Amino acid sequence: MSTALAPDHVPVMVDRIVELLSPAISQESSILIDATLGAGGHAAVFLEKLPHLKLIGIDRDATASRLATVNLQSKFGLDVMQRFQVLNIPYDQMQTELNKLKIIQVDAVLFDLGVSSMQLDQLERGFSYSKSAPLDMRMDTSSGTTAAELLNSADVRELIRILKVYGEERFATRIANEIVRARTKQKFETTDQLVALIYEMIPAPARRTGGHPAKRTFQALRIAVNNELQILERAIPAAIELLKIGGRLAVLSYHSLEDRIVKQALNEAIGTQPAINLPIALAPAKLKLLTRGIERPSASEIAQNPRAASAKLRAAEILIKDAA
Ligand SMILES: C[S@@+](CC[C@H](N)C(=O)[O-])C[C@H]1O[C@@H](n2cnc3c(N)ncnc32)[C@H](O)[C@@H]1O
Repeated sequence: MSTALAPDHVPVMVDRIVELLSPAISQESSILIDATLGAGGHAAVFLEKLPHLKLIGIDRDATASRLATVNLQSKFGLDVMQRFQVLNIPYDQMQTELNKLKIIQVDAVLFDLGVSSMQLDQLERGFSYSKSAPLDMRMDTSSGTTAAELLNSADVRELIRILKVYGEERFATRIANEIVRARTKQKFETTDQLVALIYEMIPAPARRTGGHPAKRTFQALRIAVNNELQILERAIPAAIELLKIGGRLAVLSYHSLEDRIVKQALNEAIGTQPAINLPIALAPAKLKLLTRGIERPSASEIAQNPRAASAKLRAAEILIKDAA
């Protein structure tokens, strides 16, 4: 298991994200919430560039929370703990947990969605289809259902839905039927059992296109196991709620399902619906977009960091707040 931030770990689109969020966090007492702390890659850059900044990192993965703390302490020294704090919670709980710390409003929130390279590299977590490992896939290993438990218990309709909706897998029905048939003989326990089944179910010509044949099924199971989309649907409005006027939000997503949720939440907050007490006029916008549609990493960033290839960045600034 890797125990430190790889020296070549370059956080995705970090220069652009710093540029977008900096105007909101340039004051002495500014607070940035890094809602997806991971190994602390983005956090380290913010703490370095803005020496006055207080950064609260959130990660539901206890290993990531510990590792980020170790990484940031080894980079900045133990004193960093005076301006860095970590919360080991799912990010849709940020408002409640910050309120407990008497933090009612913050200046900026960053989300870098999905799974981290560190989680993929920890083979025993079961996120990767490249080596045999237990089929776990939980970001928070202290609770919830593992991927193996899901595969061994879900009915065929639920498996088809998961593979179709979360994986956009063309062969969802074939794979799901085979999972249900195979588990009557042998329960699913390891990633290689599932990878072998997917290879058999995807016809050879289709196996040669669209990346690794197991990629879509693994993405789908990971999203289902971690309830990722439902949590994200709650988290973006919660983050908007937490930001003060002039506060800024940046979200990096890696597939269209995530990006759709982010786009919809931002559009809702822009406030194009008529206000209840203003039947004709439109409600004033609560938020303005700082990115035109989505922004993408440059070709040179993708060449250096292939994981950035699918990144989509959206950012926004809070214009007005609802009266309490
Ligand atoms: C892509 S990584 C972040 C990498 C980080 N920006 C860096 O540069 O090191 C995403 C992280 O978000 C965490 N995460 C995913 N969903 C979460 C959720 N619902 N609540 C809290 N953390 C979550 C994962 O455990 C993972 O560590």
